[in-house]
Amino acid sequence: MTAQAIEVFAPAKINLTLHVTGQRADGYHLLDSLVMFADVGDRVTVARASEMSLRVTGPMAAGVPDDARNLCWKAAEAFGEPVAITLDKHLPAAAGIGGGSSDAAAVLRGMEQLFGRPSGVHLPDLGADVPVCMLAHAARMQGIGEEVRPLDMAPFHAVLVNPGVEVSTPAVFRVLGRRDNAPMTSMAETDVPLMALDWIARQRNDLQPPAIMVKPVIAEVLDALAALEGARLARMSGSGATCFALFDTRAAADGAATTLSSARPDWWVRPATLR
Ligand code: C5P
Repeated sequence: MTAQAIEVFAPAKINLTLHVTGQRADGYHLLDSLVMFADVGDRVTVARASEMSLRVTGPMAAGVPDDARNLCWKAAEAFGEPVAITLDKHLPAAAGIGGGSSDAAAVLRGMEQLFGRPSGVHLPDLGADVPVCMLAHAARMQGIGEEVRPLDMAPFHAVLVNPGVEVSTPAVFRVLGRRDNAPMTSMAETDVPLMALDWIARQRNDLQPPAIMVKPVIAEVLDALAALEGARLARMSGSGATCFALFDTRAAADGAATTLSSARPDWWVRPATLR
């Protein structure tokens, strides 16, 4: 019997570290990033159909394109089969947590199951974050995002916060290019130190200072996260504006999220476990 519809979870992508290590001749930046995935995300359903369609539902659906501009649609077209896609949107858009990329990867994973063949799609063509989102597992990401190596990591407990402003990734990279950067270094020669929270705390997100210049509210989010009881470190993910704090236990993250939600009901605040 052929499956009629496949539902796939599209988890939020969190860059625990993001070092910019160089720039290619075509302008794209070389990255070295420790990426993990949250138990918070969107839901994508794909079903065989005679023509392409996309329906966007859920609490974060407002403003999300439901046509060929959506990365989900582009992913399905690249796969080469018409499908009816439902995207149940829970993640904020243009938020540094790979919503669009994770949705596109979920469409491809769903279609691989539905049609019983690998996608054959050159993933970086859809977006730099699509290869790691296809893996949807803790990984070290290098190159412009196309070099992805899975890591065996213990889970981390976090609070994710987005202040409701969209950030343009190219704008953040443009501001980065105009600044005197800290030396462009890779994270580590081996993956061993990646396991430790205090090692992560000593790393950085090189896009954080330029993103704060583009959207100063990000500094306010980082201060609020760092002030939460039990927060071990606060940092921005991707090119922002979503930031995270790490906690020793899920209970500590849950408690901190409740505290911050009531102080800032206008912000998107979620406790999460990262894997
Ligand atoms: O690939 P994606 O669509 O996510 O990238 C958005 C923009 O971010 C690119 O057009 C480029 O300006 C910038 N970018 C970059 N280096 C990367 C990834 C993205 O400069 N590794």
